[in-house]
Amino acid sequence: MTILIRNIKKLVQVENNPVLMRSGKMMSELNSIDNAFLLINNEKITGFGNMADLPANVSEGAEVIDAIGKMVFPSFCDSHTHLVYPASREIEYVDKIKGLSYEEIAERGGGILNSAKLMAEISEDELYEDAMKRLDEIISYGTGAVEIKSGYGLTTETELKMLRVIKRLKENSPLTIKATFLGAHSIPAEYRGKQSEYVDIVINEMLPQVAADDLAEFIDVFCDRGFFTVEDTERILMAGLKYGLRPKIHANELDYSGGIQAGVKYGALSVDHLEYTGDDEIHALLKSDTMPTILPGAAFFLGMIYAPARKMIDAGLPVAMASDFNPGSSPSGNMQLILSMASILYRLTPEEAINAVTLNSAYAMGVSDQLGTIAIGKKANVFITNEIPTIEYMPYYYGTNKVERVILNGNVIV
Ligand code: NIG
Ligand code: FE
Repeated sequence: MTILIRNIKKLVQVENNPVLMRSGKMMSELNSIDNAFLLINNEKITGFGNMADLPANVSEGAEVIDAIGKMVFPSFCDSHTHLVYPASREIEYVDKIKGLSYEEIAERGGGILNSAKLMAEISEDELYEDAMKRLDEIISYGTGAVEIKSGYGLTTETELKMLRVIKRLKENSPLTIKATFLGAHSIPAEYRGKQSEYVDIVINEMLPQVAADDLAEFIDVFCDRGFFTVEDTERILMAGLKYGLRPKIHANELDYSGGIQAGVKYGALSVDHLEYTGDDEIHALLKSDTMPTILPGAAFFLGMIYAPARKMIDAGLPVAMASDFNPGSSPSGNMQLILSMASILYRLTPEEAINAVTLNSAYAMGVSDQLGTIAIGKKANVFITNEIPTIEYMPYYYGTNKVERVILNGNVIV
């Protein structure tokens, strides 16, 4: 199957010499080709360039799409979500409006524990169907790869149930999906005051089964004030590494928790949230291969301080951004909105913001060798916009869907 997209107003984020991520000043680099073509064969990108250089006969037998006035981007990579969940939590959101903090809601048995209670009750099929609908929705907004975490189970049985659902989604959705085991997302009420016993269960009971059934690529811990300590986190990460699960952790959302340093120490692929990132954390990250990942949706929705993205990039770090799609702190998986927030709230230029939600977020889920840019041999996950005047218009014109068509694995999906 060959697809030729021709007369593209701008083909955005093209690479002749692909890199795995862009940091610091390089985040401003965004190459594009005006009046371009893109050629897709089977699952892969096999050619691109200016229309003047379009090889003869290439359109024979191909599905030809005209993109006059439209742009083509690599699909967004959403490297941090919790989109397998049993139910929405808008009542808590009203409590939030009335002034309760995230921690106060958690203390009342709301928050993650609320989702865990509902998780025990929902059938595996319903969980799967609901999540599949969310996947279809994010596809329509331009996402081509997504990481999904467990962590709303908090018992061995329910954590495995979530991960089995993620496995089924992987098998049946055209999205590229990576699974993360997040048994240490919250401390179940019955383990209050003896949380090391819960950590023992995560390590000795859950983890071996997750690994035996090959249910996850990554391991996560919510390392923050009121949740898991650095000591708990290190124990879990060490155990995960023995099973080949690379860490990707929740860190420094609520305080200078030491989570960033713990992640770096255990070779985390990413550390995520990062509202409380100071000079020590930046120095630790500068010496690592860990992708600092900011989740604008959660900070926006919870009315928190914003991670110092500008300072991080100016210090030479890469930054990725992801949706954190979940029912408690970020009920949206719309990466176009994240792109806009990157510019509006975090003062990233459009070029930096696009790198943050494509290539760098692909790195943060371990797929930047196959996704995140337009390059020969990469997987053909791209979207065609509606008619837009400039690249800058993408973050600027926020709140509407500017994605018109979606191609995933070389197939037209939308
Ligand atoms: O990434 N910070 C921890 N976990 C989620 C929140 C999940 C929830 O409230 O349900 C997050 O924001
Ligand atoms: Fe999260």
